Amino acid sequence: MSHDKEFYGTFIAVMAGLAVLAVVLVFTAISLTSDVSDYKPEEIVIENIKPVGGVYIAGESELEAAASEAAAAGTTASPDAVMTADAGEAAAPKSGEQIYNSNCLVCHGAGVAGAPKLGDIAAWAPRIAAGMDSLLANATNGLNAMPPKGLCMSCSGEELQAVVEYMVSKSQ
Ligand code: HEC
Repeated sequence: MSHDKEFYGTFIAVMAGLAVLAVVLVFTAISLTSDVSDYKPEEIVIENIKPVGGVYIAGESELEAAASEAAAAGTTASPDAVMTADAGEAAAPKSGEQIYNSNCLVCHGAGVAGAPKLGDIAAWAPRIAAGMDSLLANATNGLNAMPPKGLCMSCSGEELQAVVEYMVSKSQ
């Protein structure tokens, strides 16, 4: 009878120990796998198959470059990876409207310092009559209170032409 009691005590102790061990293992497993949500297999694959030297085309991001190189090498780049590539870096020319709003509106919106207002047909008519070449030359070089390039120093000739065309199209 005392033998049974002894067995029973040992049995309970072993079972309790195993239960504690199971709980510890569960928590260990959870803590080891907690970063599973930011596991991005596509990016890891692209990073791993990336050639040592890369050719960057202007405006192309690192990930796009890797993806297009992978495509050229016959492997299919994951569309997800290409989608997540930062397309904002592409130096696409700005539209006339964008440039107008960020550079020219400040004067041409309200007619500051005698600037012909956008949409003021009478003010624009004689200027438009002088022709696009004249408008573009005056916009580029400045005219009286109109500063050269309308202060858009980063604007290319094409961008300046696009914004002048935009202003003309809204004012005739
Ligand atoms: C600091 C104010 C100011 C800003 C900014 C400005 N303009 Fe002007 N703009 C003027 C004034 C003033 C005139 C009228 C000049 C005159 O006829 O004496 C003018 C005239 C013009 C004309 C008519 C030129 C002509 O041949 O009659 C064009 C085109 C023009 N601006 C384009 C632009 C563009 C494009 C921008 C933005 C990139 C811009 N302007 C920004 C003040 C400004």
